[in-house]
Amino acid sequence: MTESASVGNGTLRIREMTIDDFPEVFHIGEEVFTAEYSQSLYRTWDEYEITTLFNSDNELCLVAETGESILGFALGTTVEKHNSPWKYGYLVWLGVHRGLQQGGVGSGLFKEIKRRMREQGVRMIIIDTSADNEPAIRFFQKQGFADTQQHVYMSLNLARKAKKKPGKKP
Ligand SMILES: CC(C)(COP(=O)(O)OP(=O)(O)OC[C@H]1O[C@@H](n2cnc3c(N)ncnc32)[C@H](O)[C@@H]1OP(=O)(O)O)[C@@H](O)C(=O)NCCC(=O)NCCS
Repeated sequence: MTESASVGNGTLRIREMTIDDFPEVFHIGEEVFTAEYSQSLYRTWDEYEITTLFNSDNELCLVAETGESILGFALGTTVEKHNSPWKYGYLVWLGVHRGLQQGGVGSGLFKEIKRRMREQGVRMIIIDTSADNEPAIRFFQKQGFADTQQHVYMSLNLARKAKKKPGKKP
C-alpha cells in the first residue's frame, strides 16, 4: 500500500523501500547523518543499517518520492520486552535530502510509519537523537512526542595504559 500527499509542486508518494532504492537511501543518509550528527559509535550510519532493518522489518522501511526521485526515507522496527505487555515502535532513522527539508516530506514519512506501526499493534513509538539536534527535536515535538530524557555516553580507552598509583606495587 502507498500513501500520497502534495508537497511543493509535485505529489509525494510514500511506499515501501525495495532493494533498488538501497543506493539512493544510503547516499541521502550519508548526507544527513554525518560525523557531526552523532559522535557516538552506537549511532553510526552505514549500509548495514539499511540491510538489517530491511531484513527484519521491510514493512517499516519506507521511502518518499516525487516522480522518480527519492526525497527521504524512514527505517523502523518493533520491540517487545519480556515483562511488558506493550509493543514498542522504534523509528531508527528518518532522513530527508538536505535541500528538501522543511517541505513536509518528514511529516509524510512519519504519518505513514506511525499508521503501519499502529496496525502492527504498537502502543508507543520511541526515537532517539543527539541532544543538540534542535530541528529534529522540534520536528518530533510537532509530531506529538514528549517526555524527553537525556542519556549519557561514556568511553574507556583500553589502548591507553593506566597510570600507576604512587606507592603501589605493580
Ligand atoms: C528531522 C527531519 C527528518 C524533518 O524532516 P522535514 O521534511 O524537514 O520535516 P517537515 O517539513 O515535515 O517539518 C514538520 C515540522 O517539523 C519542524 N521542523 C522541521 N525542520 C525544522 C527545522 N530545521 N527547524 C525547526 N523546526 C523544524 C517544524 O515544526 C515543521 O513544521 P512547519 O513546517 O509547520 O514549521 C529532517 O530535518 C532531517 O532529515 N534531518 C536530518 C536527520 C535527522 O536529524 N533525523 C532525525 C533523527 S533519526
